[in-house]
Amino acid sequence: MIVCVCKSVSDRQIKACIDAGATSMEDLQIDLGVALCCGKCGPYVQEMVSGASPCCGRSCGGGCQSIRVTAASDVVVAPPLALAA
Ligand code: FES
Repeated sequence: MIVCVCKSVSDRQIKACIDAGATSMEDLQIDLGVALCCGKCGPYVQEMVSGASPCCGRSCGGGCQSIRVTAASDVVVAPPLALAA
């Protein structure tokens, strides 16, 4: 899954970078260039590097249930909620 659209960086690349020793957002910015353009990927990348479960990257307060990543290559996206009639 592409995490940083601006730089075409995938979750696998980020995970590999973390596995290779990156320990901070700065490391990932230097190594992969993530979160240096529009910045929308920043919260997600930050959660990956901090070991937290990445969520939607929006201001959900960390309680987001829309996206859960159990492994870098295993992204599960919940179906959209039914619209009220
Ligand atoms: S999506 Fe990563 S900087 Fe724009």
